[in-house]
Amino acid sequence: MSLDIVILAAGQGTRMRSALPKVLHPVAGKPMLGHVIDTARALAPRKIHVVIGHGAELVRERLAADDIHFVLQAEQLGTGHAVAQALPALEADKVLILYGDVPLTRVETLTRLLEQANESQLGLLTVNLADPTGYGRIVRNANGVVQAIVEHKDASEAQRAIREGNTGILAVPGKRLGDWLSRLSNSNAQGEYYLTDVIAMAVADGLVVATETAQDEMEVLGANDRIQLSQLECHYQQRMARQLMAQGVTLFDPHRFDVRGEVSMGRDVTIDINVILEGRVVIEDDVQIGPNCVIKDSILRRGAIVKANSHLEGAEMGEGADCGPFARLRPGAKLGAKAHVGNFVELKNAVLGEGAKAGHLSYLGDAEIGARSNIGAGTITCNYDGANKHKTVMGEDVFIGSNSSLVAPVTLGNGATTGAGSTVTQDVPAATLAVGRAKQRNIEGWKRPQKTPK
Ligand code: UD1
Ligand code: CA
Repeated sequence: MSLDIVILAAGQGTRMRSALPKVLHPVAGKPMLGHVIDTARALAPRKIHVVIGHGAELVRERLAADDIHFVLQAEQLGTGHAVAQALPALEADKVLILYGDVPLTRVETLTRLLEQANESQLGLLTVNLADPTGYGRIVRNANGVVQAIVEHKDASEAQRAIREGNTGILAVPGKRLGDWLSRLSNSNAQGEYYLTDVIAMAVADGLVVATETAQDEMEVLGANDRIQLSQLECHYQQRMARQLMAQGVTLFDPHRFDVRGEVSMGRDVTIDINVILEGRVVIEDDVQIGPNCVIKDSILRRGAIVKANSHLEGAEMGEGADCGPFARLRPGAKLGAKAHVGNFVELKNAVLGEGAKAGHLSYLGDAEIGARSNIGAGTITCNYDGANKHKTVMGEDVFIGSNSSLVAPVTLGNGATTGAGSTVTQDVPAATLAVGRAKQRNIEGWKRPQKTPK
């Protein structure tokens, strides 16, 4: 059976008190609507239709993709009206309705729900709530058969006592939907065309409403304000942490660990507290990450060690390489196997060969550094002349004395050495010492100035 998915995302989200459309507020670094779209994709539908209204242009711009069909709902006249806007484009046997501000629904839950929907049956996702205030209530007859959904504002006292709430997530036979939507009326407490009224119509037409229940409330929670947004964030992070621990990762404290992107991790990885992983991060077996590290779009090969307070972006660390504490690896930083980067060292577009070392206080930009070379403390590659970037190329086994300035473009051959404090402006041949500093003078008997007594 073919599937169309409609995602409702036209509402304003007044309670967010934000210039940003609600569905663009991020959970784990990704807009909520982005999560819903990814979940929809995992169900392999014929088409994904996103109904937009408030902030439509921005939403479209941020989430445009080949498989997304945007539908404009110019005025927000209710959830039924919203689905009706997508109707002309719906062709599939089944239609699943999702919400752009409900980001954490599991694919497995929706798969179960979809199995319930066919020509004679609707699938409705419900949730049992300690406090169902605000939710539509699931009204069942004496035999437990679903009859209707009554919105909180339209419900009687008795109906308000019902704890089973409507999540809004619904799978319906596509061929019937148009007829039902055309018969909706807005004579209710909110003056809206309620999608939920479709339930009673389906029952009247002799269809069965089959329910599935969400595993937990968070799976169907929408973010109406920033408090709920933080609850979703927290839940997402806990879910991610549990998943990684189940795969063989040690998290020193799962409450102080955040993933904002896609990570793949090997076994026996250990991660200390307050680590944030962003973008695409690949971490191989036996990697150790110290506390307070931010690692974005990077690859850490087997056994690499990132020490406390390091910041990596667009970097690659080879097998057994280590960096930090307080290392900064910027885009294009690449450490060979067993290479070492120590404290207060910044690398940008710089490759350190196997076993090469930069132990302390350096800036290495646009540089190629051969295997086993040693960069002394305070070394700077002067890679920028105010207009252009230039390269520093070093062979193997080079030794750079402390506090050297390497004025690029410059090349140093295998085994070259620079004296401490040198400003190197010319290429240094292999196995040669370059000394580029003023010669020391000693002035005998020189007297320091004296303070005049008061
Ligand atoms: C809706 C359900 C209610 C359910 C609750 C779960 C209806 C009538 N009620 O109520 O039974 O318990 O969700 O959270 O469906 N939207 C549009 N266009 C519109 C109106 C809404 O795109 O014209 C979108 C909103 O952006 C939002 C979603 O639909 O993402 C739900 O709308 P909302 O008005 O918040 O419905 P609720 O009153 O919460
Ligand atoms: Ca709502």
